[in-house]
Amino acid sequence: MEKLIVKGCGKLSGSISVQTSKNAVLPILAASILTEEKVVIRNCPNITDVDNMIKILRSLGCGAEKQGGAVIIESAGINKTDVPAELAKELRSSVFLLGSVLGRLKSAVVSQPGGCHIGKRPIDLHIKGLRELNVRIEDYGETHYFDGGNIKGGTVRLDFPSVGATENIMMAAALSRGKTVIINAAKEPEIVDLQNFISAMGGKIFGAGSGTIEIEGVEKLHGCEYTPIPDRIAAGTYLAAAVITGGEAELFNCRCEHIYPLIVKFRETACYVECNNDKIYIKSPKKLNCFNAIETEPYPGFPTDLQAPVVSLASVADGTSIVTENVFETRFKYAEELKKMGADIIVRDRTAIVRGVKKLNGAPVSANDLRGGAALIIAALAAEGKTEISEVRHIDRGYDDIAGVLNALGADIRRVIT
Ligand code: UD1
Repeated sequence: MEKLIVKGCGKLSGSISVQTSKNAVLPILAASILTEEKVVIRNCPNITDVDNMIKILRSLGCGAEKQGGAVIIESAGINKTDVPAELAKELRSSVFLLGSVLGRLKSAVVSQPGGCHIGKRPIDLHIKGLRELNVRIEDYGETHYFDGGNIKGGTVRLDFPSVGATENIMMAAALSRGKTVIINAAKEPEIVDLQNFISAMGGKIFGAGSGTIEIEGVEKLHGCEYTPIPDRIAAGTYLAAAVITGGEAELFNCRCEHIYPLIVKFRETACYVECNNDKIYIKSPKKLNCFNAIETEPYPGFPTDLQAPVVSLASVADGTSIVTENVFETRFKYAEELKKMGADIIVRDRTAIVRGVKKLNGAPVSANDLRGGAALIIAALAAEGKTEISEVRHIDRGYDDIAGVLNALGADIRRVIT
């Protein structure tokens, strides 16, 4: 079992480059099978979610290989429409293959992805949307059979702007006869990136980033080379890490406009933040103020994926911060671990009341999920003594060498095998 040993350190400082977005790369890798021609996705992060996506693509009969930082996909040989259940369990994003397999092969078999540590993760909105595209769906227990023999454009009104459902419908519609309109679509930057990728393959898709997306189905898409956007959540995580130590950091390869809601919150705490196209500089204040209320919301609201990192910061800020999680059901499990380090957090339903303490202490803690795990690292950087973080595999799903990146800023993090 691998653990991270974090020694609470002095101030972080220096420059780092931010990895490519996990949440952009995963649906783009799935969408790459919409063409039988070769697709090259550049600068993919070295994370286990990407490795698992590659395994899934291979299990369907596609060629998928890493070459340097790129992933090369050749799906002319695709011959299966079902994702093996054991791989689907490893990677929630396997659900994105629903839209792309259905688009390409006109049928797909998908097992209900299991619940996870942040709450139930149903796919009812995906199913409802695909029904509007004339897809027939039959359920046998946990397995859903999608028959897209007569798939055609339609109007889908999502009850909630689900990121995954929007992406699946975009992919399924890209190769379907006629025009599809998605109303109340998710507006996340990763949706815009998927639109740009489908367009780079010759698709006709417009409106991503707004609440209405229009897709004019085409007969065929072609191969392309594509570089997805930088990871706004990793950027936010590293900014929070620098701030909790009272330090400063300069991040390259990030899009300020994608993390604007976080920047606003940092400024509330008295941090100095300078944004310059693909560069962000942050400097911590002498005394970190608590956050005014934070409420997670779909984009352009405050991202749920940065909720845990800001709670770590709030746990040592001056005053009481109230953080409400509106997107997922149970996304405060990591708070129990932070409490082992001396944090003062009361969770009531979907709200955390975080009273800043003078200092945190190192302790043995466990990462229960990806972003909660990153929050533990952030807290550990400011804690007195040594923190041992187990279940690192959750963190490795989404952060490309988080220890190496933070050590480049002066942290003291070691990975050990026990
Ligand atoms: C994506 C991101 C994840 C992020 C989330 C919200 C990827 C790989 N993952 O996840 O990091 O936290 O967006 O920004 O891009 N829901 C339903 N029915 C559905 C679909 C969703 O009830 O059919 C609910 C979910 O349970 C959740 C909420 O809607 O409570 C948001 O889910 P969604 O936007 O779909 O998130 P994901 O695409 O799973």
